[in-house]
Amino acid sequence: MDHLNTPNMEEAARAILARNDRGGYTVPTDRLYPFQWNWDSAFVAMGFALFDVDRAYRELERLIEGQWADGMIPHIVFHAPSDTYFPGPEVWGTRHAVPTSGITQPPVFGMALRQIHETATTFGTPDAEERTRALFQAALRSHRWWLRARDPDGIGLVSILHPWESGSDNSPAWDDALARVPVTTKTVIRRKDTGHVDPSMRPRDEDYQRFIHLVDLYRECGWDPQRQWATTPFKIADVQMTAILARATADLLHLAERLGSEEERSELADMHQVLVRGLSRRWRPDLSRFVSLDLVSGQDVEAPTQAGFIPLIAVMLDGHQRGAATAEIERWTDGMVVGVPTTPSWSAAFEPKRYWRGPVWAVINWLICDGLRLNGTEDLARRIEQMTVQAIERAGFCEYFDPTTGEGLGGDTFSWTAAAYLVLKRRS
Ligand code: GLC
Repeated sequence: MDHLNTPNMEEAARAILARNDRGGYTVPTDRLYPFQWNWDSAFVAMGFALFDVDRAYRELERLIEGQWADGMIPHIVFHAPSDTYFPGPEVWGTRHAVPTSGITQPPVFGMALRQIHETATTFGTPDAEERTRALFQAALRSHRWWLRARDPDGIGLVSILHPWESGSDNSPAWDDALARVPVTTKTVIRRKDTGHVDPSMRPRDEDYQRFIHLVDLYRECGWDPQRQWATTPFKIADVQMTAILARATADLLHLAERLGSEEERSELADMHQVLVRGLSRRWRPDLSRFVSLDLVSGQDVEAPTQAGFIPLIAVMLDGHQRGAATAEIERWTDGMVVGVPTTPSWSAAFEPKRYWRGPVWAVINWLICDGLRLNGTEDLARRIEQMTVQAIERAGFCEYFDPTTGEGLGGDTFSWTAAAYLVLKRRS
């Protein structure tokens, strides 16, 4: 890989971000993902913040060009056409001026905004306050959307209505719920991903049909959140999503203390309390992790996946929980060349090379480490950060890594892996 010939990996990481720049926004990687993706951009913006605050702001500003009138920030913004990806704008059939998908992704946005603002303030960037204020309002509108559209019954957990919303598209966590979704589609499926990447690393065709069945269904609901909520066979109150929303809410509250009104502060504080309470109820002592809830079947989602540890970024565990969660993360990582696997090797669902069924993602490790640090578990956080940095140094800025061999897999020259490298390298 050409970037590995560059002596300085940090330079190489910045070069990837430059190469994937399409004019103020960054594509996750060329061809496989040729548009702007929601949570990718938030991670990328935190990477940019380390060396180019203006560009970091720009990434978020371009993302909210896709924000809907009801506050939702879509998972893809199709700024410019490309024929290397399916499903494109014509399949989604949404109405926003800049074409977008019709579903969302984890709201890392608020976490990124706080970090960018703090860096900008440290360096005395002249227009920082004004830019932060505008993005803060966008983030607040999106958090209101989350609670209104995705927790209408006020249980303190927000739901995903499509596996792609979770960001962990092909996770075993969705298997039972996805099995209820018919494989019939109105859209003709023309997969492009398997032309770019080895099909054995990508979702199976049958799962893809179910993914598209849901897109067809929601398009027929006119993308109306209430109709979708009422008709969907796939509705999971997800602890990873809720944790990211809760953490981002805490970060927005922090910003509101400087820039917001009294009403905004109390609104965010209430939102935060509701989400943290909801999450705290999802701890399962017998599993040493948090579990999501399938709202259609009423069952806990017990499949072991990384999602069970993401609440550490939002919830302060008690001593017993902290010890148990830390031991469990270590158990998942023991014997692996690179941890933390997204599914542990002892699970029947473990596939070390297939999308979200075992491989390691640098950005997931970043979140897990933030959670461990917040909970005072510095040592393990540092170990995972070092392991992640070394994996990237060995295999390059790949989309993800085989935990059993360290091999780099999926797309190459990946933006969020480059951003993760820049951030984690400084810490390790
Ligand atoms: C895949 C991942 C998702 C990511 C996207 C772009 O769909 O599962 O998390 O946002 O690729 O990188």
